[in-house]
Amino acid sequence: MLNEQLRSVLERMPKAELHIHIEGSLEPELIFALAQRNRVSLPYDSVEALRAAYAFTDLQSFLDIYYAGASVLLTEQDFHDMTAAYLERAAADNVRHAEIFFDPQTHTARGVPFETAIKGIWRACQEGPISASLIMCFLRHLSEEDALATLEASLPHRDKFIGVGLDSSEVGHPPEKFARVFERARQLGLRLVAHAGEEGPPAYIESALDVLKVERIDHGVRSLESPALVERLAREGMALTVCPLSNIKLRVFDVMGSHNLRELLDRGLAATVNSDDPAYFGGYMNDNFIAAFEALPLDVTHARQLARNSFTASFLDPERKRAYLAEVDAFFANANH
Ligand code: ADE
Ligand code: ZN
Repeated sequence: MLNEQLRSVLERMPKAELHIHIEGSLEPELIFALAQRNRVSLPYDSVEALRAAYAFTDLQSFLDIYYAGASVLLTEQDFHDMTAAYLERAAADNVRHAEIFFDPQTHTARGVPFETAIKGIWRACQEGPISASLIMCFLRHLSEEDALATLEASLPHRDKFIGVGLDSSEVGHPPEKFARVFERARQLGLRLVAHAGEEGPPAYIESALDVLKVERIDHGVRSLESPALVERLAREGMALTVCPLSNIKLRVFDVMGSHNLRELLDRGLAATVNSDDPAYFGGYMNDNFIAAFEALPLDVTHARQLARNSFTASFLDPERKRAYLAEVDAFFANANH
């Protein structure tokens, strides 16, 4: 059991969130409110019925519902309101900085212009209440040509996002499928990340590193299956954005007690804790920390390490990183933890 003191540390410590899909922060209440506002009909009668459908068996069963939920997003204001709600919620969990994924192809495929989505999301990020930057993800179940066209369409808004990522159905869509678009993004000076080793094998993590040249691995929990890869990740200080509640909801691990977060840290990997799709997986940042610390042998030293890792692995400039790390260190030095 988690003692009150450790719970309070987890809740109050300053932290960064590096793996959050903004469309995955859309709560059922907001889905219904936006459906009503936009006169979109939903295949669910009530908020409760929608929530009851959140019983997933794997990544694909989740993605089907996640893309359906996003269908209520039509106007710039919708994207703004969704993002503002997430930022408020993150601030309440003492998240100081968030690097937020968005999936433009989910919207452009429905006829919603790229600029409608990015302008709404970006405007909310400018308003606070916390620091936030955007990472545009390509849907890996679609073609590389589609991703390349999306990258070109994004260029008028190059100032509004800091990097690109790769998400959606992993197995059967290895990183190397997107070699050219990541090369183009790299030439444009964008930061690079990719989901790898969530459901896919360690070889996908290797090709994300070697072919796509990513700077962080999203998830990466299957890395432990390859000792050589673990050694490399540790040596290179490669960060993993781990999402504990997501991994349980999508059956990557049976129960939280068998999650490998502690082992990742023990092997010297730069693991971080994140919420992935908080509206669908049962919780935001602090819920993820609390669930993991309740089920696993993790203590205050791990809490501090995870808080530090979150800022170190961020794409903040060195000066801001140092300032946040000093805040973490002061937090752990000051209180009687
Ligand atoms: N899109 C939203 N959440 C995702 C996840 N956990 N894995 C892959 N794609 C996603
Ligand atoms: Zn994700």
